[in-house]
Amino acid sequence: MTVVSAPGKVYLFGEHAVVYGEPAVPCAIEKRATVTVEPRDDGHVRVEANDLTLNGFAVEYADSPNDRPDVDVPKRLLDAATGYVDAAVEQAREAADAPDAGFDISVDSEIPLGAGLGSSAAVVVAGIDAATRALGEPLDRRELADRAYQAEYDVQDGQASRADTFCSTMGGAVRVEGDDCTRLATPELPFVVGFDGGAGDTGQLVAGVRSLRDRYDFAADTVEAIGDIVRQGESLLTDADPDSDPSAELIGELGELMDINHGLLSALGVSSRSLDTMVWAAREAGADGAKLTGAGGGGCIVALDATTETETSLQYTPDCEQSFRAELATDGVRLEEE
Ligand code: MEV
Repeated sequence: MTVVSAPGKVYLFGEHAVVYGEPAVPCAIEKRATVTVEPRDDGHVRVEANDLTLNGFAVEYADSPNDRPDVDVPKRLLDAATGYVDAAVEQAREAADAPDAGFDISVDSEIPLGAGLGSSAAVVVAGIDAATRALGEPLDRRELADRAYQAEYDVQDGQASRADTFCSTMGGAVRVEGDDCTRLATPELPFVVGFDGGAGDTGQLVAGVRSLRDRYDFAADTVEAIGDIVRQGESLLTDADPDSDPSAELIGELGELMDINHGLLSALGVSSRSLDTMVWAAREAGADGAKLTGAGGGGCIVALDATTETETSLQYTPDCEQSFRAELATDGVRLEEE
């Protein structure tokens, strides 16, 4: 039995624009997906999931997953979950040169599915790592991040950046621009997350931005402006001492950039009423800045607030189902048991 965990993430800046080659800064957070893998001889794959969204999910298949498990979640989420696990299995088989390998896979995740916290990336990263280790062919982190990206790319019909999978593999704050992926040394940031209980459809949201960008020059300019925000935010971060608490001035400036980033994402059509309500609740509670995180359409916002005000205020916001403080996860993918 091989057990591996990988963290989810929030985007400080740059989701969506990163798909078109602009930089982005996602940060891994201490909410993890844990995948347990046991090889089996008959070539079948059995997947069980016990997490916030897919409690009770179980499916077994020989070639590709056709039988839909009977759980009460929208079909598109179920298809996505099954698709990501299947893509991870394919990557592991290829990497270990074991095309007929079968597995019992169990997924336990603290990260809600499709909510902007990188659940699919965490499951894919932990899944490929656990499966290749179980086959005796562990991967180095760069290859793991690469294969996890390939899996997401396949499931999302080519509409994926390396940001989520690289961040989940490496942990910490990272900078991603096209194929160029690096870790950033940053101070601990006071992230607060608000979750509306819903989920967005990443493929559809990315396609919506692509269509606006293709049709309007000013939408393409908006995508580039998000890139400018990221560059500005990154220079603030790299000037800061990673080993000290961030100054109030730094948090204020990052927060201002997050607010502008949210406005631009909203202009590109990827916010929602509940995300906007949570963003405004955070701002009115005194957060230094707030924005949606991930693909949008529903799911989560991330705010910066060193006090308890934003978390408390979100708890009383009707559109918010859950709020919590999210610490930076310095560990990326992690072997838990072998
Ligand atoms: C989704 O978590 C982030 C997007 O930028 C898509 C991607 O980068 O693959 C919307």
